[in-house]
Amino acid sequence: MTLSAADQSRLDAFWHYCLEHQHFNLGYPEAADFDYAALEPFLRFSLNNCGDWGEASNYLLNSFGFEKEVVQYFADLFRISADQCWGYVTHGGTEGNLFGCYLARELFADGILYCSRDTHYSVAKIVRLLRLPCRWVASQPGGEMDYDDLSRQLQIDRCRHPIIFANLGTTLRGAVDDLAEIQRRLARHGLHREQYYLHGDAALSGMILPFVDQPQPHTFADGLDSISVSGHKMIGSPMPCGIVLAQQRHVQQVSVAVDYISARDQTISGSRNGHTPLLLWAALRSRTASGWRQRIAQCVARADQAIERFQSAGVPAWRHHNSITVVFPCPSEPTWRRHCLATSGDTAHLITLPHQQPAQLERAIDDICAEWQTLTVPHTEVRAARRASSSS
Ligand SMILES: Cc1ncc(COP(=O)(O)O)c(C=O)c1O
Repeated sequence: MTLSAADQSRLDAFWHYCLEHQHFNLGYPEAADFDYAALEPFLRFSLNNCGDWGEASNYLLNSFGFEKEVVQYFADLFRISADQCWGYVTHGGTEGNLFGCYLARELFADGILYCSRDTHYSVAKIVRLLRLPCRWVASQPGGEMDYDDLSRQLQIDRCRHPIIFANLGTTLRGAVDDLAEIQRRLARHGLHREQYYLHGDAALSGMILPFVDQPQPHTFADGLDSISVSGHKMIGSPMPCGIVLAQQRHVQQVSVAVDYISARDQTISGSRNGHTPLLLWAALRSRTASGWRQRIAQCVARADQAIERFQSAGVPAWRHHNSITVVFPCPSEPTWRRHCLATSGDTAHLITLPHQQPAQLERAIDDICAEWQTLTVPHTEVRAARRASSSS
């Protein structure tokens, strides 16, 4: 590749920008401690995994063998035998959620999707794309689904085929919906297992819950029909990616033979990234289960340390069981911007990830605590006043 001197210097400047900001992030769950140097030689190849990794493809430069092993790894993690499920490496958690909802809608043309108000914003796009009727179920104060409201909405709709979109770790508060309680509520409405679809969104927690001692139910053995995980979050990757798994019998109904690639296909995209299965494969091969357990335990311990620091300064910070998302009252805009915290209404959060330097976390916590201590009126009133003045 030949670039002009000006273009090269633009790239150089961007390289330095990336170097400087590579660990910038406190509010979003992307781990940045990866090293995929061993895979750099593959950047010279136009890898493309279009179609199904289980089929022989006419496009020879694919990484199907690696993708298959990644899928098998997750089948094991989410307690389903490899011959009873099918899945693939997606472009991210959103595509996995779209795939799960697509399978559900193909299974139940009269289905209605139920998800809590704490569900990731992309699900609103998914239901529009699929023209899937959707009910936004109320959330409990901590972000978990309000099961009484779910029951109430099921009662009103008398839907014969509900599609439940369960959060296995919400974006803003790390809340995990209770799969057993959801299924009890469905049963109470006279719905048996074949009459509903249960999708789990485990964008971040899909690589946390399997590695803790007392995980909330999150597997196929707990009743899931499909599950989606982001690859660039707890695993870490230089580009977005993810994994989706679904029960084989649901996938079969969307599988079609494609003349052009001389193979069957059941994925969302045509061309698919052939490099990301390699990245995920390498990441999964480079750590044992106990290595992942240690990594998660370290993040949870840091979350607890952060909460202790906050609470000792009077800041009411908290987290859910098995969550590394630390929630606290939203500080001023300059503070949340300075530390790249994620905010939502009156709260903000930080996520404790392996790449973060203790000093980076300390600085953010110090700033938030110092600001909190200068407040003379309740924080929620400060926020309400700020909102009122910014909208006028
Ligand atoms: C709970 C949840 N679901 C879905 C997504 C979307 O995942 P992705 O960004 O990998 O598409 C996110 C991203 O933050 C998330 O937190």
